[in-house]
Amino acid sequence: MNGAAHFSLLILYGCLSLTTLLYYCASNHWPVPLPLHSEKILAKCRSLHDIPSPPKDFADRQTSDRFVPATRPTILRNATVWTGRSSGLEVLDGVDILLDGGIIRTVGHGIKSSQDVEVKNLQGAWVTPGIIDMHSHMGMESSPDLAGANDVNSLKGSTQPWLRSLDGLNTHDESHRLAIAGGTTTALILPGSSGAIGGQAFTIKTRPTGEKTPSSMLVEAPFNLNGTKEQPLRWQQMKHACGENPAGVYEGTRMDTVWDLRQAYATARRIKDEQDSFCAAALSGTFLRDFPEDPKWDALVDVLRGRVKVHNHCYEAVDIDGMVRLSQEFKFPIAAFHHAHESYLVTELIKQAFGKTPASAMFAELSRYKREAYRHSEYAPRILHEAGIQVIMKTDHPHISDRYLLHEAQQAHYYGLPWNVALSSVISTPATVMGLDHRIGFIDQGHDADIVVWDSHPLSLGAAPTQVYIDGIPQLEAPVIRSARPASSQVAPKTPVFDDEARAALGHDGLPPLDPVISTSETVIFENVNSVFLEENGKVVEVFRAGNGGVLGQVVVKTGSVLCHGFCANEELWSDVKRVDLEGGSLAPGLLTIGSPLGMGEIEFEASTNDGEALARNPALLGDEAVLRAVDGLQFQTRSALIAYRAGVTNAVATARRNSAPAGMGAAISTGAKHKLEKGALIAEDASFHISMSMNFDESVSTMIGSLRYLLSGSAGGEIGAIFERIVNGELPLVVTVNNADIMASLVSLKREAETRHGASIRMVFHGATEAHLIAKEIADANVGVFIWRPRSFPAQWEQHRILPGPPLSRETLLSSLLLNNVSVALGAEALISGPSQSVIRNARWDAAWAAMDADIGLTEADALSLASSRVRRLLGLDKYGSPDLVATKGGTLLELQSKVVAVISPARGLVDIF
Ligand SMILES: *[C@@H]1O[C@H](CO)[C@@H](O)[C@H](O)[C@H]1NC(C)=O
Ligand SMILES: *[C@@H]1O[C@H](CO)[C@@H](O)[C@H](O)[C@H]1NC(C)=O
Ligand SMILES: *[C@@H]1O[C@H](CO)[C@@H](O)[C@H](O)[C@H]1NC(C)=O
Repeated sequence: MNGAAHFSLLILYGCLSLTTLLYYCASNHWPVPLPLHSEKILAKCRSLHDIPSPPKDFADRQTSDRFVPATRPTILRNATVWTGRSSGLEVLDGVDILLDGGIIRTVGHGIKSSQDVEVKNLQGAWVTPGIIDMHSHMGMESSPDLAGANDVNSLKGSTQPWLRSLDGLNTHDESHRLAIAGGTTTALILPGSSGAIGGQAFTIKTRPTGEKTPSSMLVEAPFNLNGTKEQPLRWQQMKHACGENPAGVYEGTRMDTVWDLRQAYATARRIKDEQDSFCAAALSGTFLRDFPEDPKWDALVDVLRGRVKVHNHCYEAVDIDGMVRLSQEFKFPIAAFHHAHESYLVTELIKQAFGKTPASAMFAELSRYKREAYRHSEYAPRILHEAGIQVIMKTDHPHISDRYLLHEAQQAHYYGLPWNVALSSVISTPATVMGLDHRIGFIDQGHDADIVVWDSHPLSLGAAPTQVYIDGIPQLEAPVIRSARPASSQVAPKTPVFDDEARAALGHDGLPPLDPVISTSETVIFENVNSVFLEENGKVVEVFRAGNGGVLGQVVVKTGSVLCHGFCANEELWSDVKRVDLEGGSLAPGLLTIGSPLGMGEIEFEASTNDGEALARNPALLGDEAVLRAVDGLQFQTRSALIAYRAGVTNAVATARRNSAPAGMGAAISTGAKHKLEKGALIAEDASFHISMSMNFDESVSTMIGSLRYLLSGSAGGEIGAIFERIVNGELPLVVTVNNADIMASLVSLKREAETRHGASIRMVFHGATEAHLIAKEIADANVGVFIWRPRSFPAQWEQHRILPGPPLSRETLLSSLLLNNVSVALGAEALISGPSQSVIRNARWDAAWAAMDADIGLTEADALSLASSRVRRLLGLDKYGSPDLVATKGGTLLELQSKVVAVISPARGLVDIF
């Protein structure tokens, strides 16, 4: 029937039948002329209930839609392949993989090669599919962070399902290249969380494209992007958020956020219902006006049609509860709760969400930075897995760098997530949850040729790619490969048992007690000790190591001091002893961190739990105001401090903050002490004086340098004058938080000037120092110390964008460059990029081991320990305050993923804390 005929027929019916006429009058649904493109509309109606899926013959494809012509086929020979299949349990030994046409063509033994094929013999190296980050802001929140390239949060409305992350995707973000260096080949780029619906998210591969465009980076972009309506449909992704962020940005509350969501969903549901009745009528031959749609709401209507993976930033039980209710009310599935810090406490609630149970996408450790992350548990991934919920580890790049997503899985594995699930959590599980498992996340015939070749087992600490293939194209031009890793790194680490700890976390709603089980001044004997490291003359030395025969030793401790180590005679002299079996473990000096918020408060973004921000504008020229002293604002028994203590970081130099950066007199404290007045709680009240210099402060760099010159000249009076007198006399270390090489160069000049004037050597330490490698020799010549507080350099800000990325991108790292130039250097723990975070200070032990591995200049275990212990003490002259604490670990040394801290021995406090 042609359009005109159809129309007249309808009118005829309408005029002839009074009932019909009344119906149309009453319902305001006049039949309209058959619209143009009626076939298109009918087709749309016919596919109204379609769900996305790959084309039926997808697995048989011969080339990828992302194939770059002229890419040479490659055979990877003799690989140990983790395929991602069989719940991540399948490992194929000694197989070959043929990459051709941008896809994995064959996996098997003895694949024949021909002339045009590149052949790589991997000699049994571990191979996995590319790492997939399901929560990244790469390109939207660019690195270095510049106002002109920050497009992550629209502040134009709370619910904006029409926005697309693709429209803010900066192609010049330095993170893409860095992500590849960590094996991260795919990332879901989500808008930020300032709105309840932040917009649509898009999946990219991290490799540069010939087109140099954001669009060419996309993986299976939905067809509606350019208005084509091909079939079958492809998955869309969308960001939702609840809790503190959306509520805070719009000066509302959680109640407002959920109401905003309900209003948006009600609008989308109305349009969907109109479409459904329109199509029901149209398909039975009655066109009742044009297809009801609105480009603003298309995507949210598609959520209701089950065509969109909803990624829901949601932390707390109260927020998850609201979202589960919303999903039931409007009948749409949620693909994953992101951050989901409390998801492990409400697993049954999560299972009540509409449709398939949402996954939980989490950080391993990063937490307690705001209230809704306060009840985080490191055991959450295993608890969720045991409850049958899919676990995904993610970065929230740049908050954790995309380059180090695999390390999140390593930590989750350490705290009890089974190895196969941990690997899946950053590869196959995100692929599946995003609806892309037909092409990424698995090593299987027909999948995209995204492959990482590792130098060690991917769950071993510091595992690094030796090559990364994306769409079959090798991404590392001249990969720097570190010296051969020990055989032990070729298997997954045998991690400690944390069953009791996981139970306690659940039992106490995320706030298990952190006090030691026993705190004693009596004699303690550590048995079955494999190695002992002590600080001697300001250096860490290995004083005992069990012989090859495997005869393990002892360490005897009385009132917090070591009486004997190795093979101790006269055991009968020690009565009433407490014995601790270390099962082949070790003792090592306690670690120390400088300038983190540790010791100054509990929740970084909750002002009422912290010492707070100093109000003065000028960081250096203090004039007539009182000098900031950390000792006046110390807080003991915070969860982050106690957790750091239980991980071997037994001391911290706490500092007050101005401009969010360390300022004023730093106090050296014990992180395990109960309060300031307890014996040994304060190691040094006036440990060091701290200032910060940054191009990001309101004050200009030249003003800050000028102020410091004035202070160093000795002309200032009052309290600050007295402090600088001690500094120029070399009695008090001056610690300057600074990252830029030019500012550091100015500081070196100031130091020289002042030393010439006063004739004494100033103890100056650069804290941060990302660009220090550019003037390493000058820093060494000027006798300036360096404390690297981010062991893995990242170009977070312009003032630190000239990084040494380390292997596989560069031979040198910041650490190796400074060590090779004989700079007096020490290390902190990797922290949150956008600001300090106390929660990850506990990782100092692994960060030191990893940095020593990446430096690749033959550092021993004792050297690696010294980076975060004796060297830090020496930088600040803290060695004069007596012997450091010792940390006892079960199952391995403090530096290993195999070990668990079981005790701290504190000579200053005269006791042994046993956990
Ligand atoms: C594969 O590599 C391993 C480790 O280097 C080696 O022992 C084995 O012989 C190799 N297999 C083949 C078939 O070359
Ligand atoms: C629209 O986008 C899809 C998916 O990226 C692509 O396959 C198709 O060729 C594009 N069509 C046009 C007309 O650009
Ligand atoms: C560093 O010190 C060592 C040992 O004192 C010396 O051999 C080496 O030349 C020094 N390196 C530099 C760059 O000064």
